[in-house]
Amino acid sequence: MPVQIVRNDITKMKCDAIVNAANPTLLGGGGVDGAIHEAAGSGLLEECRTLGGCKTGEAKLTGAYDLPCKYVIHTVGPVWRGGQNNEEALLKSCYRNSLTTALEHGCETLAFPLISSGVYGYPKEQALRVAVDSITEFLTEHDMLVYIVVFDRSSFRISEKLFADISSFIDDKYVDANFKFRFSGRGESGESAVLGETQILYPAAANLAQLRRPAKPTKALSLEEALKQTDESFSEMLLRKIDEKGMTDAQCYKKANIDRKLFSKIRGDRLYRPSKQTAIAFAIALELPLGEAKDMLMKAGFALSHSSRFDIIIEYFITNENYNVFEINEALFAFDQPLLGA
Ligand code: APR
Repeated sequence: MPVQIVRNDITKMKCDAIVNAANPTLLGGGGVDGAIHEAAGSGLLEECRTLGGCKTGEAKLTGAYDLPCKYVIHTVGPVWRGGQNNEEALLKSCYRNSLTTALEHGCETLAFPLISSGVYGYPKEQALRVAVDSITEFLTEHDMLVYIVVFDRSSFRISEKLFADISSFIDDKYVDANFKFRFSGRGESGESAVLGETQILYPAAANLAQLRRPAKPTKALSLEEALKQTDESFSEMLLRKIDEKGMTDAQCYKKANIDRKLFSKIRGDRLYRPSKQTAIAFAIALELPLGEAKDMLMKAGFALSHSSRFDIIIEYFITNENYNVFEINEALFAFDQPLLGA
């Protein structure tokens, strides 16, 4: 995955270079600037003193001293003044100039904080979109592994309504899954445990039957169709869906945030078995309806499990035909789940 969103302290990242959200003096400050200077030690400040400052949108490189990386690239983001003062363009140039500087110094891995989204007040969600758009655009021309290091929960905002919707969706699916498992596991403890938990979870449910939801009937396939589809491998289905959607290979794997090399492997081996995360990323990129998404996962040897919150959240978004990776990641982050592309 060329762009990965991770939750970490950027001073711990063992990349070739990390980016500092500095101020024009380059003489340190609070936030990530303060953390990087503190972790790097006094040598960093001494070198920064020789640079003569840095203009907003520009980037300058120094050594990393006591940090576990080779370089620090200092860039100065725009202060947010409402969005009508060229803020987005300046923020984009921070990313572009930092990436170019990293490339010029042979870096293969690079970590960014969410520039300007702290003291400088850039709304976090917009700051994240600018970051991903700028980095993704650069990576269409260059190979590099780039991390966006999200430090605190407020970097991902999720609306109360969406949070409540997903919570009840999880409860429904989760309870169903546990229910079928527990209920079929009758026995002294099984039955009383289920009854006990059920009464706590759903005091209003007069009897167990209320909690069972009849599975939705799926369209019956003809035997010939079923056999044809079972013969089709994951790779064949993926390529078929790319064609059906009128996408190019590159459009699909970039939208899925899968690197070109991995896609070539999948394309070149009809029996290739991707990871579950990769299969889900392609199903989202192709905007498959739930049935087809499950089918694609099954061809890779996986299923969306109702005992996994991650899977239930993915199922929630596909069921609601919301394929926006940001919103999916905001939800995954809010529920402490690993992120897509991470
Ligand atoms: N690792 C990763 N991210 C971090 C860390 C850390 N250790 N510390 C803070 N952040 C995150 C913040 O949560 C925020 O999302 O970095 C993002 C950028 O916040 P700031 O560090 O406040 O940077 P910025 O908004 O660009 O403001 C720059 O702040 O620290 C001063 O000297 C700096 O004047 C400059 C201004």
